Amino acid sequence: MFCCISCKNNNERNLVNQQMANDKKSVIDQKVDSLLSLMTLEEKIGQMNQYNGFMDFTGPVPNEEDIERKFEHIKKGYVGSILNVRGVEEIRAVQKIAVEQSRLGIPLIFGFDVIHGYQTMSPIPLAEAASWDLKAIKESARLAAKEAAAAGINWTFAPMVDISRDARWGRVMEGAGEDPYLGSKIATARVKGFQGDDLSDKESIIACAKHFAAYGFPESGREYNNADLGTSTLYNVVLPPFQAANSAGVRTFMNSFNQLNGIPATANSFLLRDILKEKWSFDGFVVSDWGSVAELIPHGYARDASIASKLAVNAGTDMDMESYFYLNELVKLVNDDQVNTSTINDAVRRILKVKFELGLFDNPYKYCDKNLEKKIIGSTEIASGALDMALKSVVLLKNENQTLPLKKKGQKVLLVGALASDKDSPLGNWRAAAIENSAVSILEGMQQYDENLIYSKGPELILGKTEFAKEVQINTQDRFGMKEAIQAAKDVDVVVMVLGEHGLQSGEGRSRSRLDLPGLQQELLEKVFKVNRNIVLVLNNGRPLAIPWAKKNIPAIVEAWQLGSQSGNAVAQVLYGDYNPSGKLPMTFPRSIGQVPIYYNHKSTGRPNLPSADFVFWSHYQDESNEPLWAFGHGLSYSKFEYTDLKVVNNYSTNGIVKVELTLTNNSNRKGKEVVQLYLKDKFSKVVRPVKELKGFQLIELAPNTSIQVKFELADRELGFYDNEGKWFIEQGDFEVYVGGSSSTDLSRSFKLLN
Ligand code: GLC
Repeated sequence: MFCCISCKNNNERNLVNQQMANDKKSVIDQKVDSLLSLMTLEEKIGQMNQYNGFMDFTGPVPNEEDIERKFEHIKKGYVGSILNVRGVEEIRAVQKIAVEQSRLGIPLIFGFDVIHGYQTMSPIPLAEAASWDLKAIKESARLAAKEAAAAGINWTFAPMVDISRDARWGRVMEGAGEDPYLGSKIATARVKGFQGDDLSDKESIIACAKHFAAYGFPESGREYNNADLGTSTLYNVVLPPFQAANSAGVRTFMNSFNQLNGIPATANSFLLRDILKEKWSFDGFVVSDWGSVAELIPHGYARDASIASKLAVNAGTDMDMESYFYLNELVKLVNDDQVNTSTINDAVRRILKVKFELGLFDNPYKYCDKNLEKKIIGSTEIASGALDMALKSVVLLKNENQTLPLKKKGQKVLLVGALASDKDSPLGNWRAAAIENSAVSILEGMQQYDENLIYSKGPELILGKTEFAKEVQINTQDRFGMKEAIQAAKDVDVVVMVLGEHGLQSGEGRSRSRLDLPGLQQELLEKVFKVNRNIVLVLNNGRPLAIPWAKKNIPAIVEAWQLGSQSGNAVAQVLYGDYNPSGKLPMTFPRSIGQVPIYYNHKSTGRPNLPSADFVFWSHYQDESNEPLWAFGHGLSYSKFEYTDLKVVNNYSTNGIVKVELTLTNNSNRKGKEVVQLYLKDKFSKVVRPVKELKGFQLIELAPNTSIQVKFELADRELGFYDNEGKWFIEQGDFEVYVGGSSSTDLSRSFKLLN
C-alpha cells in the first residue's frame, strides 16, 4: 500500500490509500468494459461456465467423454474457471490452452477446496474455531493460501460460514459452530487470511463465502434437506457471518444446495440480489454449488434446463459449477429475450473484474512457479503453523483429581484405540491435496515423551479402505483386540483411550442419526473402565458427541477433534503438560440426540421454568434434562481462573457506549490463557431475543497468581438486533450482562439502556 511520508497522520494516509484503491478499481472497470465490448455472447457465457477438472472430483463424477469436450470448450473460450486441477505443471498446461488457443486469451481461474489446508492439513475449521484465537485462525488461512498458491491455485471455496446448531449434520466440521458473533469474527479472519492485503500478491488467493444461505439448518440434520427457519433467525443468526465476510472484502460467494422458504438458494433473488448485491453492495461474483443450477429441477422449481438457467441467472447466480446448463441454454435464452444481455454483462463483468484483481491478465502464469512449489509445499513454516493451530484448538473438557497432565517420568501408561495409531483420520474430511496417512498419529506423538509407552489397539473402528466419496464401514462385530486391551489395562497407572469418529464420518454427505461413540468403542471404554478407572479419554471427532456415560465416569476428557497433519504432536504436548490447553467449545455438546438441535442462545419460551414439583406444564422432557452435556464456550485449563468485581461502569444512552469491567485472576502456579466471554440479554424487546448472546470475548494470557482488569465496550453494534424487516434496531430498556469462561456463567449485572 502507498505510504505517504508527508502524511500528517493515519487518516490522511488511509484517505490516500483509499483513493489509490478507488483509482485502481476504476482502471480495472475500464479494462473490463473494453474487454467485454470485444466478446461474443458465446464467449461471455463461457466465462460463466465452470468445469470440474481432469483429476479427482468433489461431486457427482463426469463421464469420460466429457473430458475431451472440456478441452475443446477451453479452446473456444467457453470456460471461465476450472476446479480440482492442481499442481503447477497441470495448471500451466490447461492455462496455456485458454491463453494461447482461444480467440481472446482470457485466463482461467482455478478453484479448489482449501478448507483447512492444502497439502499440510491444519485442524478442521470447527476445531480452529475452538481456539477463539482470531490471529491464529487468520495465520492458518494465510499459510493454507500460501501453500495452495504455490501449487497454482487462485481461488479457494472457503470459508464455509454456515452457522449450525445440529450436530447430526456432517458439515458442522467445516464451519465455526453455533454462534453468529464468533462466526462473524472467524469469517473475517479467514477471508483476510486467504486474500491477504493485496490480491495481486503471489501468496493471495480469492476466498469464497459459502453456502449462501441457511445450509446449516437442514431439517433433522439430514444432508441437503430443506431449511425452514424464521425471519428473525435468518437475519440475526444465518446472515451476519456472510455480511462479515462481505465487509472483509470476500470476492466470491457460493450458493447453498437448500431451498429457503420454498425458493432454492441458487435461484433466490431475495438472497442474491436484494440482500447480497444491493443491500450489501457485493461487487464480486456468485458461483453455484456443484450442479446446483441443474438441481432446480429435482427441487421441483424448474421444469427443464432452460427454465433452470433463466431462473438462476436472473436471480443472481453468475457462474455455473458443473451443470453445463448455462453453456447449453443461455445463448438461446438471450436471443429469445428471456434473459437480458445486461444480466449477462453484469455477471461477466463481475467475473472478469476478479480475474483482473488477481493479476491473471498481467500474468496468467503468476501462480505457476515450479521453484516456489518445491520450496513452499510441505515446508516447515507451514508445518509449524499447523502445529501451533492444533495446540490452540484442543479443549480440556474435564480433569478431575489432576489426572492431567501426565507425568513425564515414573508413570506406566497404556494407549488404547484404533484412532490412536491412525495417520489418516486426523486429516479430517476436506483433506484437499494431503498425502494419505501423512498425519503424526497420537501414538507417534506420545512415543516422543515415553519410550516405554504400551499400545494396545483394541478393535478396528473402520472396516476396509476409506474413500472421499464412499460410505465409511463401521466395525460393529469384530472384537479382535478387545480382550488384549482390557488385559493390558489391568496393571498400568493410567490408560489413555483415543475414541471417537473417523475423519470421513463428518463432512459433506456425512450426516449421522446418532451422536454416540460409533462401533464397539463405548463397549471398549466401559470394559477397560471396569479394570482401571484412571482413564484419559481423548476424543477425535468432527462434531459434538452425546457421551453422558463418559462425562459421568471418566476423570479426564480432552476434545482433540481432527487436528490435521500435526495431530499427534499437539495432543502429546497437551497431555504431558508442555502446552496448557485454552480451547473453548464453539458448539454445544448434547446429553442425548433427543435434545438436538440444542444451543446456548435459545429463546426463553413462555414456560421456561418448573413452577412447582411434578407439575408437567413447562418446557422440558420427561426423560432428559434441558441442560447440555457441555455448554458453548466451555473449556478448562491447567491453570485456575476466577472472575470477580464485575461492574457496568457508566451511564448510557442508545448512542453511547456501555462500559463493562471485571477482574480476572489466575489462581494457580501455571501461566495460562483464558477466553473471557461477554454475553448480553436484552430482557424485553419487540422481537424476542435469546436468553444470552455472545457480544464480546478476549483471549488473555495471565502469569501465575496474578490478576488483570478486563474491559469491554458495548456500542450500537453489540446492543442492537435485526428486526423482522431486516433493519438494525436498538431499543432502550432492561439488559443483563454476563461474563465468564463459558456461556453457562451466571456472573451478571443488570443495566438500563436509556434514550
Ligand atoms: C461441494 C460442496 C462445496 C464445494 C464444491 C466444490 O459439493 O458443497 O462446498 O466447494 O462442491 O468442491
